[in-house]
Amino acid sequence: MQRTIIHAIFAAPEQFAGREITVCGWVRTLRSSKAVAFAELNDGSGFRSLQVILEDGRTPDFAALVKLGAGTALRARGTLLLTPEAGQPCELHADEVTVVGPCAADYPLQKKRHSLEFLRSIGHLRPRSNTVGAALRVRSAAAFAIHQFFQERGFVYAHTPVITCADAEGAGELFRVTTLDPAAPPRTADGAVDFREDFFGKPAFLTVSGQLQGEAMAMAFGNIYTFGPTFRAERSYTQRHAAEFWMVEPEIAFADLTDDMQLAEDMIKYVLRTVLSRCPEELAFFNQHVDRGLLARLEAVAGAAFARVSYTEAVRLLEPRNDRFEYKIAWGCDLQTEHERCLTEEIFGVPVFVTDYPKEIKAFYMRQNDDGKTVAAMDLLVMGIGEIIGGSQREERPDLLEARIRAMDAAPEAYQWYLDLRRFGGCPHAGFGLGFERLVMYLTGLSNIRDVSAFPRTTGTAEF
Ligand code: 4AD
Ligand code: MG
Repeated sequence: MQRTIIHAIFAAPEQFAGREITVCGWVRTLRSSKAVAFAELNDGSGFRSLQVILEDGRTPDFAALVKLGAGTALRARGTLLLTPEAGQPCELHADEVTVVGPCAADYPLQKKRHSLEFLRSIGHLRPRSNTVGAALRVRSAAAFAIHQFFQERGFVYAHTPVITCADAEGAGELFRVTTLDPAAPPRTADGAVDFREDFFGKPAFLTVSGQLQGEAMAMAFGNIYTFGPTFRAERSYTQRHAAEFWMVEPEIAFADLTDDMQLAEDMIKYVLRTVLSRCPEELAFFNQHVDRGLLARLEAVAGAAFARVSYTEAVRLLEPRNDRFEYKIAWGCDLQTEHERCLTEEIFGVPVFVTDYPKEIKAFYMRQNDDGKTVAAMDLLVMGIGEIIGGSQREERPDLLEARIRAMDAAPEAYQWYLDLRRFGGCPHAGFGLGFERLVMYLTGLSNIRDVSAFPRTTGTAEF
């Protein structure tokens, strides 16, 4: 069946003017007077719906068609006319309208403003709503922009495993993968569960990050990036944490922390500019209904120089404001979201990289600085969200790396292959992880991670 995509019509209406075309989609609304009816038809290809005009005498079955409700799947054949004087640039005068799939009267997405909470309760239908539909189109455009950015720079796209036996962050927030019977697992002599009998012959988990394998790939290809799902069993009931989320993780060889930050800044700006030019209607919608400052902010950030501040300096700037914070800040504490947002929103007014955190609060693989206290880490903080990127220069010195692994009470044997990378032509290298959902939140102004993921998985919910 030949159908014209509605987004293509709006992109160049004059190319279709006066021509006979067929469109397919779902009715958003249908209103009728005696002899004429107007159906707003949306096919999901873009934000806007096409107005289809049904006329008694011209469109067969007129009397039956005008009774159709929202959600009906339709095919309409007719002539496209330009209507520059009307609210929309064009409309379709239908010669034939076919009901492809009727829609039951209890269809929950009737034409009115639905709350985001209500939309979450109909996860299978909400991609058809204005807000979630627009967020998911922005998500698609942003994902493509990420690939374009790295591919243009010659990075190799690396697929890293979802199932792993190593905790890449050493934070213990792993989901276990097992085929053992939970009611009667095999046991060792001392009564512990015997994971030698399990599918992989040892404990296995869903990955929290593709970084460790990404480093192995970078030692072969120089510059790589991963882009895939990651999993964290952290019981964080915040609006910015999901149990399953997508991460973009570039890893660059022969590079240090400064190179790493430059790459992150270039990438964020590239994605911003691409989405600004590819999704103007979606962003205008979010600017009007979700966050009035969105467009101005995205445009400003696309051209701004990001700030850089050391953790030690950041704490010095935050400490005088301690009476406002729920969590008091002092050197050695991890930054909480309230501190992160204060830094980027109030103190700097632009996205800011915080660097050189105390080694105790950061992952084992980060390179130790000469002061003996801090590591070559960086977090990128942005307005409305806080941390959107976490990265570091990696510890390339095998003895220091092994000492850090022992210090977190892990067995170096479990990380033997990772330590090997330092023995066999290791080199200074760095990388970062971008939380992709957080990026989409930043691009849309939506404040809950569950609204930028089609089927979110968070503590206590894995519906749909
Ligand atoms: O800071 P994180 O934990 O860093 C890593 O995983 C490193 N291995 C990255 C690297 O250097 N290759 O996570 C990176 C980013 C965070 O900045 C945040 O944006 C996002 O991933 N993130 C989450 N997003 C949603 N839900 C969660 N539970 C998240 N945890 C981290
Ligand atoms: Mg982090």
